[in-house]
Amino acid sequence: MSEREEHDTAGDTVAVLTERRQGERRLADRRRGGDRRRYDRRTLDRRQADRQTERHQAETTLNEISLRADFSQIRYAQCWEDADILLEALAITPQDTCLSIASAGDNTLAMLSQGPARVIALDMNPAQLACLELRVAAYRTLAHHELLELIGSRPSRRRLELYQRCRRAMAKGTRSFWDRQPELIEPGIGAAGRFERYFRLFRKRLLPLVHGRKSVAKLLAGGNLEQRHRFYRKRWNTWRWRLLFRLFFSRRVMGRLGRDPEFFKYVRNEVAKTIFAHTEYALTQLDPRDNPYLQWILTGQHINALPFALRRENFDAIRNNLDRLEWHLVSVEDYLAHHQDGPIHKFNLSDIFEYMSKQNYAMLLDQLVSASAPGGRLAYWNMLVPRTRPQALADRLQPLDSVATVLHQLDKAFFYSRFVLEEVC
Ligand SMILES: C[S@@+](CC[C@H](N)C(=O)[O-])C[C@H]1O[C@@H](n2cnc3c(N)ncnc32)[C@H](O)[C@@H]1O
Repeated sequence: MSEREEHDTAGDTVAVLTERRQGERRLADRRRGGDRRRYDRRTLDRRQADRQTERHQAETTLNEISLRADFSQIRYAQCWEDADILLEALAITPQDTCLSIASAGDNTLAMLSQGPARVIALDMNPAQLACLELRVAAYRTLAHHELLELIGSRPSRRRLELYQRCRRAMAKGTRSFWDRQPELIEPGIGAAGRFERYFRLFRKRLLPLVHGRKSVAKLLAGGNLEQRHRFYRKRWNTWRWRLLFRLFFSRRVMGRLGRDPEFFKYVRNEVAKTIFAHTEYALTQLDPRDNPYLQWILTGQHINALPFALRRENFDAIRNNLDRLEWHLVSVEDYLAHHQDGPIHKFNLSDIFEYMSKQNYAMLLDQLVSASAPGGRLAYWNMLVPRTRPQALADRLQPLDSVATVLHQLDKAFFYSRFVLEEVC
């Protein structure tokens, strides 16, 4: 989407809100009778990284969604999926081999903190693997507080300097990907994706028309259950908030600006309405004070909560296990078709099934079960498309619904309609 289109879509939303606001003002004026018109092991790391990149390039393949959507840019500069519930669900042990959708890398790194034997990260978008590789380089090279600066969780004026220290630990191709785009580094690498730009537009251009900084700060300060509900009811859930939500999180605007319209091909419900209900839950039943995802969406930083991989207490465990991580530029479908080196025990599948037909989903699930050790676990999310084990796999895959339901109620990345956990028989 071009800057121009981005501008136009935001413009449409702004126009509706402004028009309504002006109407409100005119009405108030009339009532008052007034008339107002407004990131030594470096060489070794680099060689390893170069070899890995060459392997990646030989492995690129196509699957259903790669034929329909553009995968040349960073879509997700952060994992918008809650690693806390993922880790709880997967119960990773030191004997485990894990497979994880790379996305921006945070949740793959979170899995590494549990000390498994091996973590295989896959993605079919090279830009997403560049995000993972820069994070790996940053864990190897930087101190914890510097990592937070590079990501954008904390303010910083020296991100390009921090990047210069990380770049030597990356493969040549990845280095040149980031070297070419300093503008993606300067604001924080966690802001570099299309999805994060969508949130930025929301935060900078639209949210201020509805809620001022004080209200946002008050919301993020949290409180007890009753205080949160009262604040939401009395101050937050205004008609302008509902209107903004309906417009900005509609399939059309989200498809054009945030995700890809193709990601909605199998969506059958009203997008904004579904996401509104989940957001309401996250603002009231859960405490916004503990929610790093909400904090980033509303402020562009992590105020007083961090996603699992970025917390100080998990930094050393991740750094110490980096040699157990490998990544490949390949779809899960194709990786599994060629995978021969032992069973996999734990799977983080993001919400990839959302983008495929029921038939392709069932075929991939079959591949996953065949690649799994008995007792292996699959964790994934549904955002807008219902995807759970089909009856045909009932004798091979067991849903762990009660655990998944409890975990879903704690899901801080609040836009998912369901968290799914299934165990291989
Ligand atoms: C599925 S997306 C989900 C992100 C977020 N949950 C959302 O829906 O807005 C996360 C990552 O999965 C990758 N991906 C999607 N389908 C895949 C597949 N079949 N094999 C490997 N990676 C895939 C995408 O490139 C992306 O980086």
